[in-house]
Amino acid sequence: EKRGYPHFMLKEIFEQPRAISDCLRGRLNLEDDTIHLGGIADQIDKLVDADRLIIAACGTSWHAGLVAEYLFEHLAKLPVEVEYASEFRYREALIDEDDVMLVISQSGETADTLAALRTAQERGALSLGVCNVVGSTIARDTDAGVYTHAGPEIGVASTKAFTTQVSVLVMMAILLGQKRGTIDQEYAKKLIHELNEIPGKVEEILEHSDSIKDMAKLFSYAPNFLYLGRTYNFPAALEGALKLKEISYIHAEGYPAAEMKHGPIALIDEMMPVVVVAATDHTNDKMISNIEEVKAREGRIISITGEENEEVINLSEFSCPIPETEDCLSPLLTAIPLQLLSYYIAVNRGCNVDQPRNLAKSVTVE
Ligand code: F6R
Repeated sequence: EKRGYPHFMLKEIFEQPRAISDCLRGRLNLEDDTIHLGGIADQIDKLVDADRLIIAACGTSWHAGLVAEYLFEHLAKLPVEVEYASEFRYREALIDEDDVMLVISQSGETADTLAALRTAQERGALSLGVCNVVGSTIARDTDAGVYTHAGPEIGVASTKAFTTQVSVLVMMAILLGQKRGTIDQEYAKKLIHELNEIPGKVEEILEHSDSIKDMAKLFSYAPNFLYLGRTYNFPAALEGALKLKEISYIHAEGYPAAEMKHGPIALIDEMMPVVVVAATDHTNDKMISNIEEVKAREGRIISITGEENEEVINLSEFSCPIPETEDCLSPLLTAIPLQLLSYYIAVNRGCNVDQPRNLAKSVTVE
């Protein structure tokens, strides 16, 4: 079942080029630069006219939701709120029939996400789902939805579920942008064609997994890690930190890079690895200042950045260069070295990677 891989998690990390291709198949039309999402075709007009999109999810799926917030605001100019499903359901959340609720769940069975869905439905909002497990409760009970088609995910830590969720969300945002007339058609074309290149670029990153394996040996000692990112890669930083803590039991925190100055900087000393997730965008200069602030306090910089971002690479003790892509697609690539880093650190520490203590694959209790 593990097809020669020592763990399901590693197998699933390496499956991502195929999982993302399966997710995109039949949905990207490269001839006329359109996107076809059959599962939501009947409801798309309601989404086009919506006042607001509310996204509810937990854990890794919530991180995909945060990426979606940037995507929908940027490409479709639609106001978005991203909620922890567990908080949304117990608040007096203001949601009505002019809003759309989007729930994201790999398993489609997460109790809090399901409860958030029910709340939205009681208030009359259209509900959409992004799920992996076909026929799961959330997939069945939403008004419409899009499957990620990642295939079964056995490792408790989500990997291919995340990158396929983000792939679906990118497609939804482009489609909505086209329908709302908020995205320039040339830019839509560029994104559609670039999205089609993502599986190949993920493959390229995976070919360099040995260098991440070697690097992991040097950082497996650390009791704490800090992850920093900006814009689209702020959620990627959160996801990197979650991956590390759940499988290696190392305390890790993800922050928007600028927030470092508002507290976490006090933690930095020569023992502290700081993983900087820096796709090359308009925030690059700001990231460089953050890196300098960390180095001035002897923190150890590991960067995950575009292969042409020499400035960041040269300032880093270790760097995992990734192929260049559009900013809004970059979490699909930066996620991969983050997954590999936590996997190899967990293995070095002798942790049970596929079945971390205290965790279950599907959280059906509240
Ligand atoms: C992290 C992880 C969890 C899940 C969360 C939501 O690696 O697996 O944080 O993402 O429990 O699960 P789903 O997506 O099934 O609703």
